Amino acid sequence: MKLGEITNNFFKENQAKLEQNYPGINLNKIKCELYELLTPHFLDTHEFFYSPYVSIANHPINIFFLALSKGTPLEYISGKKYFYESEFLVSPDVLIPRNETEILVEKAIEELKMWYKKTDEVLKVCDIGTGSGCIPISILRGFGKPLKVLATDISNEALKIAQKNNFNLRYSYPVVSECRFKCMDLLEGSEDQFHLITSNPPYIKEESDEKLIHQQVFEYEPHLALFIKDKIYDDWFFKLFQDVHRSLYKEGVFIMEGHEHHLKKLEAISHKLNWTNTEIINDYCDRNRFLILRK
Ligand SMILES: C[S@@+](CC[C@H](N)C(=O)[O-])C[C@H]1O[C@@H](n2cnc3c(N)ncnc32)[C@H](O)[C@@H]1O
Repeated sequence: MKLGEITNNFFKENQAKLEQNYPGINLNKIKCELYELLTPHFLDTHEFFYSPYVSIANHPINIFFLALSKGTPLEYISGKKYFYESEFLVSPDVLIPRNETEILVEKAIEELKMWYKKTDEVLKVCDIGTGSGCIPISILRGFGKPLKVLATDISNEALKIAQKNNFNLRYSYPVVSECRFKCMDLLEGSEDQFHLITSNPPYIKEESDEKLIHQQVFEYEPHLALFIKDKIYDDWFFKLFQDVHRSLYKEGVFIMEGHEHHLKKLEAISHKLNWTNTEIINDYCDRNRFLILRK
């Protein structure tokens, strides 16, 4: 019998007693606890590497070496990526969060601090194309005051990972905050209004930029998270800027990560939609990386 089935049966058979002994317990919680227990947190590395090991098919150690030999990104092997003071779960359904995206999080927190001085309302934030959820969850943590957050993605599989991360990290931000997840195409059909919108959208041109992409990224990371077809690229961002404009309060701010070769053109496209207060800022390597649009 599989461990999952054994756990399900154990929970069913012992539910009443468990609920009495562990207030608030549920099947998921037991599964999390069991998983944590079986994953060693601390091992003496000397002992670990000098212990005899007999190779067994499907043993985690064999799987690790097989994945390494295939070039699987380490984050997809470990299932984890550290980003802005938190550990995020990742799977091949989501982009591996990049360090430069932490600059976007910092900018977003700065903007929220300014908004906080101007209004007593609970500030509303939206993150478009949330992937692992690293941006909204880090904003919630870094801002440290209650927020109402909507995180969207067109991929249901990505949203499942984001929701798991939100569950795991829910105590790292104020409990009264709200963090919702919704599957949608950009902000199509949304009538919500926000003080701040963030996005790290797919921004690589599928045909002309493809040769600049590292083979490992191309092979393993979700293409939905990376590429936009060349011929729809400008229209795609035009639509994004339109949706964002409609969904921001007056004086609201949009912060977006983008491609160093295309950000200037995208800034020009935003001007066609009457965004006038615009700015491009650089990443750690001094490349154009972020576009800030103010309504
Ligand atoms: C570059 S990844 C960013 C993921 C995460 N925000 C991060 O910074 O690591 C882009 C994300 O946008 C999502 N996406 C692609 N097209 C979309 C669309 N039309 N509407 C909403 N999300 C979309 C992808 O599924 C992917 O999760």
